[in-house]
Amino acid sequence: MTQVAISGLGSYVPEKILTNFDLEKLVDTSNEWIIERTGILERRIASSLESSSSMGSLAAKDALETAKLVPEEIDLIITATCSPDGMFPSTANRIQALINAPNAVCFDINSACNGFLSSLMVGSTLIKSEHYKNALIIGSETLSRLIDWTDRNTCILFGDGAGAVVLEPTSEENYGLTDFLFGSDGNNADLLYATGPATGESDLQKEAKIIMDGQSVYRHAVSTMTSITKDLLIKTNTSISDIDLCIPHQANSRIINAVAKNLSLENDKVYTNVDQFGNTSAASIPIALTQAFYDKMLEKGNNLLFTAFGAGLNWGSVLLNWGTIKNPKEQ
Ligand code: ACO
Repeated sequence: MTQVAISGLGSYVPEKILTNFDLEKLVDTSNEWIIERTGILERRIASSLESSSSMGSLAAKDALETAKLVPEEIDLIITATCSPDGMFPSTANRIQALINAPNAVCFDINSACNGFLSSLMVGSTLIKSEHYKNALIIGSETLSRLIDWTDRNTCILFGDGAGAVVLEPTSEENYGLTDFLFGSDGNNADLLYATGPATGESDLQKEAKIIMDGQSVYRHAVSTMTSITKDLLIKTNTSISDIDLCIPHQANSRIINAVAKNLSLENDKVYTNVDQFGNTSAASIPIALTQAFYDKMLEKGNNLLFTAFGAGLNWGSVLLNWGTIKNPKEQ
């Protein structure tokens, strides 16, 4: 059976930094409260010239460079986003044009914060089935445009950015994606959703806004990420001590710490950068993975665990045995 591995990766975050102190000027909050409840110190905000496609294309170019592929060689582009450039066409199509990848088939996946992992599932399965020979998977979000900057419950949490990976079959035996498990619960869709032009309920809802029941989302996030990971470990006959590094969706440090505790994962095996970027939804895992790579935290043969939860509700976990990617900055 064809093994599928990550052969390239990259990320991009906007230059503009919005600190907790900046937020103190917008809403009734404090730096201390935000740090205590979320672990977030600052987040990046896209400029008016940036979008999910422009940021995604920059992350994609870096991913292609590390994979040593030219854009014309790309077969499939999947963009995970819940803040697309527009209702249609897909942000993946916009990225296709920006990076000049005319031979790729393009579509988006909207599974909110779980979108990058859902896209890994779809992309790797399509390569395994030999329908496509490679895939560019991009998580890119411009959540700042969905945020109600007067709502202190949500505006402190999110940030903008993009991350990308290239998936290819690998000849390195035992490396690549090991397995995955996912779950969904549409009955709880109203715990976290964005209004927007297509909801058509009232004039007020023509403007996109994130609506969230924070405490319920917190409880569902911790319990589903814990249980899906436990199920995946059982399914793959993997012990938690076999995991070298867990890269969870960077929602907030309390959720990450609670999941790690439930799984008996030591803190030094859990990668976090939520303090710097906040919750960048579908972009958070590929941004963190790229940062972990350039921080030299990924070694050949490492067992990586990705786990995520997001609006939908949707959640999932992916196990992957890290292969070889050369750091282009060291060649
Ligand atoms: N600053 C100061 N006070 C605040 C703020 C703020 N930014 N936001 C809420 N409060 C107040 C509330 O009004 C409330 O005041 P009250 O007691 O006078 O009514 C008090 O703080 C406590 O509010 P809670 O909502 O109970 O606070 P909680 O401890 O649950 O923390 C938080 C809120 C951080 C949103 C938490 O519920 C959470 O992390 N939820 C998960 C949300 C999440 O991560 N969503 C992202 C998308 S899904 C995902 O990525 C996993």
